[in-house]
Amino acid sequence: MQAPTLAGVKILSVVGARPQFVKLAPIARAAEDAGAEHVIVHTGQHYDPMLSEVFFTDLGIPDPDVHLGVGSGSHGVQTGAILSALDGVLDEHRPDWVLVYGDTNSTLAAALAAVKMHIRVAHLEAGLRSFNRAMPEEHNRVLTDHAADLLLAPTQVAIEHLAREGLAERSVLVGDVMTDVLYATRDAAAGDVGTLLAQAGLAPGGFYVATVHRAENTDDAARLRWIADALEALDKPVLLLAHPRLVARSAAAGITWGTGAVRLHEPLAYPELVAAVTASAGVVTDSGGLQKEAFLLRVPCTTVRTETEWVETVELGWNVLAQDAAAVREAVMRPRPPETDATPYGDGRAAERVVAELLRR
Ligand code: UD1
Repeated sequence: MQAPTLAGVKILSVVGARPQFVKLAPIARAAEDAGAEHVIVHTGQHYDPMLSEVFFTDLGIPDPDVHLGVGSGSHGVQTGAILSALDGVLDEHRPDWVLVYGDTNSTLAAALAAVKMHIRVAHLEAGLRSFNRAMPEEHNRVLTDHAADLLLAPTQVAIEHLAREGLAERSVLVGDVMTDVLYATRDAAAGDVGTLLAQAGLAPGGFYVATVHRAENTDDAARLRWIADALEALDKPVLLLAHPRLVARSAAAGITWGTGAVRLHEPLAYPELVAAVTASAGVVTDSGGLQKEAFLLRVPCTTVRTETEWVETVELGWNVLAQDAAAVREAVMRPRPPETDATPYGDGRAAERVVAELLRR
């Protein structure tokens, strides 16, 4: 029997926000290797160069074929603008599969646009649940999973969530594509943060990396205040990589960063982020991706959230959830967790499996 080939199969990826560009990188490569036609649609949800363009350049992703340019807005306005703009794009390209990524407003809008046009949808990073209905991402995940034809799950836990929701038949465990891109970037030693560390007066192993951007943290002034207090009081300098949402909401809440231990910095490109985390003594974050990246690089992580989708990092001791300033401090100062060779996020070859599944079905 001949090996299957993807030639003639057309995949249309819809991406819009920073973590989706990272996940797109290994998929674009795997699709090309398999000879599939791959159309990339950028919704424009993220438009700042440091949240968008640099990922395409650094990770070797082909330029988007279509750019919707929707920009920022309330959830309804942003999701609706993407939804209505996609009709014409899907009609023009008529792909065999629309591939959607993660849990942003771009994900949900693209899944809806495709199912309504009877085009098959595959959801990459399916089955994640925080069980926190106050998170916009949780609605996006649940609704996208139930709309999609094929659920590409990153972990066994995600598969179990999907099975409990009656979605087992559409689900397949492929591993996590973020492992693919992280290993490739780490092995290429692509990022250099020597100059950045020198400029900020930071020594390798002598600082923490922090990010805060989730709505539940940035949009609650009291919560943002104690997070600032916690970071400012840490025992080592904190390189705080500030997402635009953090900058905007801090200004509105009258919070000034850059005092105490905190060194404010703009977001980093992906190779530099990987290098900075590798060189750090620990990570404090509310980002899903960064929790996993810290684990894969074996850097202890403290997560400023009430729950996490990436429960494996907590179970293995590499991630601790912290609910107040004292808990953040205690978690950051904890002893290094026991070493582990567990691979809950796959072997770094998830993208190949994703593309093979799209062909097989
Ligand atoms: C979005 C995702 C979130 C993901 C995050 C990654 C949703 C509901 N949320 O959150 O799941 O973790 O991306 O970063 O889709 N802004 C800029 N420049 C930009 C983009 C945004 O200045 O390029 C500002 C705007 O003021 C905007 C705010 O940041 O209102 C928030 O951006 P938005 O895309 O709505 O959500 P994120 O917080 O980035």
